[in-house]
Amino acid sequence: MKNHLKIMLSFFLLTGLVVAYAAEKGKSSLDPNNPIAKNAQKMLVEGMQTFRFDTFGDEAFWGDSLHLHQAIEGAKLGGVGPGVSPKTALAVGLKVDVDALPRALVDQLKAGAVNLDDPAVTLALLKLNAVVGLTGIFNKDGKQLQSMGIQCALCHSKVDDSFAPGIGHRLDAWANDDLNVGAIVALAPNLQPVADLLGVPVATVSAVLNSWGPGKFDAELFMDGMAFRPDGKSAATLIPPAFGLAGVNLHTWTGWGSVTHWNAFVANLEMHGKGVFYDPRLNDAAQFPVAARNGFGNVRNNPDLITPKLGALQFYQLAIAAPTPPKGSFNPGAAARGEALFNGRAQCARCHVPPIFTEPGWNMHTAAEIGIDDFQANRAPDKRYRTSPLKGLWTHQKDGFFHDGRFATLRDVVQHYNDFFGLRLSEEETNELVEYLKSL
Ligand code: HEC
Ligand code: HEC
Repeated sequence: MKNHLKIMLSFFLLTGLVVAYAAEKGKSSLDPNNPIAKNAQKMLVEGMQTFRFDTFGDEAFWGDSLHLHQAIEGAKLGGVGPGVSPKTALAVGLKVDVDALPRALVDQLKAGAVNLDDPAVTLALLKLNAVVGLTGIFNKDGKQLQSMGIQCALCHSKVDDSFAPGIGHRLDAWANDDLNVGAIVALAPNLQPVADLLGVPVATVSAVLNSWGPGKFDAELFMDGMAFRPDGKSAATLIPPAFGLAGVNLHTWTGWGSVTHWNAFVANLEMHGKGVFYDPRLNDAAQFPVAARNGFGNVRNNPDLITPKLGALQFYQLAIAAPTPPKGSFNPGAAARGEALFNGRAQCARCHVPPIFTEPGWNMHTAAEIGIDDFQANRAPDKRYRTSPLKGLWTHQKDGFFHDGRFATLRDVVQHYNDFFGLRLSEEETNELVEYLKSL
């Protein structure tokens, strides 16, 4: 018996050693000189570059066609209208990357020696590549703005405001809930190409763009031309964060596809970059009349400025974890009790499965399953809503929750589920669930 025990003990000891050795070996395979680690590092850098700075050739649309750059420079500098001063730019939610500013300029800004009412300063910032998500293209002598393009970072980045509101270090993948995309596009002197695309008068395009408001964009407008909901409200959706998406199957509020499907979709069809895109679901003229008319289901550009960048772009995005909430932004005791409710009686984890907080698998639900209307769901191929991955909710509390921001606060969200699922949560339990959501 004693011998038996000894043999068993040494067996466990040996197994332990083997496991520990394997773990150590496993670690050493992430040696920075390992070819996979090297490739990962290379892809991260390339992906970041694409996310922050690549226009995919979309300046042909935003600049050459819509002449948006002329509205930015203003009549005095060779464009049209009053121009966009840094103050105006910050007011419509554009962000300035402080790390792109030379020391001398930072000092001048600190001393209040920079005229923030002057569009020429905006041009200088564009020349420094300091306006997050916008690229200015200048003529040879660098004086005249010739065109301009947009990047992913325009909508999916904020800055940490460390220098001043709207000026700071980049926060890649945060939803820019200050950005008024519609107001910015509406500045364009020539909206005719958008009007032609949609098959409506220019005045209608302006009215639609001005109906969106901050933090919102309507990606489906260019597919179905439906600008308003039956109740007359704007059909735009919130810009979601692009972090915390690793392990999540379908993306966008209505689950159009994988991260890389949607990246190709956006770069080609929304940013109007020059690439290749294939999605025959868009040929359905009943659901997507605008897309079907414009052949969006099969786009071919040569050269293709998008496809070669998709791999690294996806890799970078999946590497961006959701940021952790600051200390003191929630009550840890209440959050812990909220977690138990989330995983238990409140049944949230049935759909929001930790730690990805969406279903591993086909993460889609009908409107009826979550107790809301189906307008937005019906604008996507699967006619469903995607279970939102909940990490980092604390970073975008300003414009509300659910796809269109219909619930102003997290408490309103919990209240909705409480009523709809008949959860009978007490006031205290409701608070605890809210504290847990804030802690994710
Ligand atoms: C003009 C603003 C804008 C730009 C530019 C933009 N996006 Fe988005 N993005 C949105 C909006 C709005 C949605 C939600 C769309 C929907 O659900 O209909 C979205 C959704 C996404 C999602 C899905 C997130 C989730 O929760 O699943 C990803 C990923 C994404 N965008 C990545 C990108 C990338 C990469 C680029 C550049 C190639 C880009 N976006 C450019 C506004 C933008
Ligand atoms: C039947 C599946 C299901 C259950 C159960 C469920 N959710 Fe959801 N949840 C969803 C879907 C789908 C959405 C997306 C709604 C939309 O896009 O408008 C969502 C959205 C949310 C959002 C908004 C996220 C954002 O970015 O705006 C929050 C917060 C949330 N749920 C919390 C909860 C909590 C808390 C519970 C439990 C009380 C719960 N959910 C139960 C499916 C579910």
